[in-house]
Amino acid sequence: MKILAVISQKGGVGKTTLATALAVAAENAGKSVALFDLDPQASACFWADRRKTTGRSETPVVRDVNFNRLPHVLDAMREAGADLVILDCPPQQRDIADAALSVADLILIPTRAEALDIRAMTQTVRLAKQMGKRPSVVLTFSPPTGAEIEQAREIIAQLEADLVPVSMHLRKAYSRAQQDGQTAQEYEPTGKAAQEIQRLYEYSATALYGKEAHGKVKAKSRRSA
Ligand SMILES: Nc1ncnc2c1ncn2[C@@H]1O[C@H](COP(=O)(O)OP(=O)(O)O)[C@@H](O)[C@H]1O
Ligand SMILES: [Mg+2]
Repeated sequence: MKILAVISQKGGVGKTTLATALAVAAENAGKSVALFDLDPQASACFWADRRKTTGRSETPVVRDVNFNRLPHVLDAMREAGADLVILDCPPQQRDIADAALSVADLILIPTRAEALDIRAMTQTVRLAKQMGKRPSVVLTFSPPTGAEIEQAREIIAQLEADLVPVSMHLRKAYSRAQQDGQTAQEYEPTGKAAQEIQRLYEYSATALYGKEAHGKVKAKSRRSA
């Protein structure tokens, strides 16, 4: 079982949007996945409630988890045979950040390419580095072009973090889907946001499971083995 933490010391950078979309992408790729909501604001839980009450889907499993119990709940998931647990983290809560970073196999830090966000991203990268881990930074709310993007790339390189090779652009599909208990790829399957999420999922799955290990074919053959 692998653990993916979606984390930033800043709110409103797209953590919950990416955590929910990646959980659905993993499920579609044949993984058994759970999403743990570590944020007291419980946005991922609200998303799951909305998903259920609108009759869309009972999955992925989303659980409201207190960080003090994280190791215990992860063990239970491992025993239940989960392939992937995604941690949706709150901003600014150092104890929760430490708990998530210490167990994560992949750390994804969403950030806008703007000064205040870059500052929070830098802090979050440093927290990961203190745990001896090299995080991946993903640009969100990205404009089509701009000097900020180039600057962000340089800062990420200086911090010795990895930059995810696909950016999440500013698109209505992300927010509309989220409000409805959906993900961008469900809201508009052939849209650009859906493509961005798929590429982000493939990047994450390759980092977690190795090349070619994230597709449907492999997941099915593993199950029948
Ligand atoms: N790439 C994007 N383009 C447009 N809106 C987005 C994008 N990513 C997230 N949003 C919207 O921005 C708001 C904040 O995103 P959210 O994922 O809740 O951030 P966080 O979990 O970091 O606080 C939500 O309303 C969400 O739907
Ligand atoms: Mg959130």
